[in-house]
Amino acid sequence: MDRWQTIIEPFRIHSVEPIRMTTVAERERALEAAGWNLFNIHADDVLIDLLTDSGTGAMSRDQWAAVQHGDESYAGSPSWYRFLGAVQNLFPFKHVIPAHQGRAAEKILFSVIGGPGKLVPNNAHFDTTRANVEFTGAEAVDLTPPHDPHEILPFKGDMDVAALERVIEERGAEHIPVVFMTITNNSMGGQPVSMANLRAVSKVAHRHGLPLFLDACRFAENAWFIKQREDGYADVPVPDIVREMAALADGMTMSAKKDGLANIGGWLAMNDDALAEGCRNMLILTEGFPTYGGLAGRDLEAIAQGLEEVVEEDYLRYRIRSTAYLGEALDESGVPVIMPIGGHAVYLDARALLQHIPPLQYPGQSLSVALYREGGIRGCEIGTVMFGRHPDGTESPGPMDLVRLAIPRRTYTQSHIDYVIEVVRYVAARAADLRGFRIVREPPALRHFTARFEPLR
Ligand SMILES: Cc1ncc(COP(=O)(O)O)c(C=O)c1O
Repeated sequence: MDRWQTIIEPFRIHSVEPIRMTTVAERERALEAAGWNLFNIHADDVLIDLLTDSGTGAMSRDQWAAVQHGDESYAGSPSWYRFLGAVQNLFPFKHVIPAHQGRAAEKILFSVIGGPGKLVPNNAHFDTTRANVEFTGAEAVDLTPPHDPHEILPFKGDMDVAALERVIEERGAEHIPVVFMTITNNSMGGQPVSMANLRAVSKVAHRHGLPLFLDACRFAENAWFIKQREDGYADVPVPDIVREMAALADGMTMSAKKDGLANIGGWLAMNDDALAEGCRNMLILTEGFPTYGGLAGRDLEAIAQGLEEVVEEDYLRYRIRSTAYLGEALDESGVPVIMPIGGHAVYLDARALLQHIPPLQYPGQSLSVALYREGGIRGCEIGTVMFGRHPDGTESPGPMDLVRLAIPRRTYTQSHIDYVIEVVRYVAARAADLRGFRIVREPPALRHFTARFEPLR
């Protein structure tokens, strides 16, 4: 089988969803009504939806069958025990606290351990993680070293361990409730973290008496990269790699909408009894009883089954290869993309492509609007719109201006992706015609979700 170059989807299609074809004129009207914010577009008006890989994947036949086994008992449902077993099989933490999605787990954790004067180091906080840290008055610090976005390195998601040492020494371990590692590193291009780096970070954190938590949304993709790229892991089964990552940590937050292969769900897990008690008390206040935590029994079943499927090697080989197929095709045609291609998404470098648009006129927004206008493709700005506004209301350029084309799991076929390649090439060839944007209305936090824009003439 290995002699064939084409990596096929390791599934057949069992049930289909129609895509509604639209014209450029229709999409222009939709953009205007949406205040040029793609989060405000009716999904029926989107042809290929690459806004996020979160909760947008296709569930398998076996997950839908598991949904039928959902037991909706308020307390102690069998579905809870199946979920708990599936989570602890990969992440054997003592306490598992279910939540309706990743940010609910973050909200609970940081409302217990955050607060003014505290600081949370992470290789790179995702936007909701940063917002949940900052909402408590704590500071969120990113420690991924700067990289040339186009340089090929195997583990560009790694944390700068020396920088972590410095932060702990300068700020004092007593002000740091937890050290976080986001695997894969979403804000930095979906790049993986090596086991060696995780080991080094774990050692530093533990030497200072600090717990290490994983933001493990894409743990299986990260494990696959370790298997492919890190010495000594080629023959290690993916579930064992996951368990090795977990053993280096003291807890985790998780959005099951990614590598849980589910449409909703998440959890918080840890070994510390006192912390678990504090978090469960908060859970009961905000999410629900500890054996369902904001989820229906059927959701718990879907996640449990998803956790078995996501570590299958045929699935991961197809998943990582099909993302690379899109990215490499764009790279070969001269479109600037973050290299190497990450696990769940291709990141277009809008700052490099649209050098005539300054960061504070949002080149990423301009490119994502153009992709929607021309081809009905919905991507997501990850740049100055997402990260440029500070808690005090001031604004500065984000670290990069990217457009993320996130690939929903098991959802689109190669012909959909070939269409995306054609549209991106078309837009890139006309990059000089694109203009920037200004924000006409924005909320104080997470502005990218609801801000309204106006094109600059
Ligand atoms: C790295 C990372 N952490 C946390 C989250 C938050 O998860 P959720 O969307 O389920 O709240 C996400 C979601 O995209 C993410 O990518």
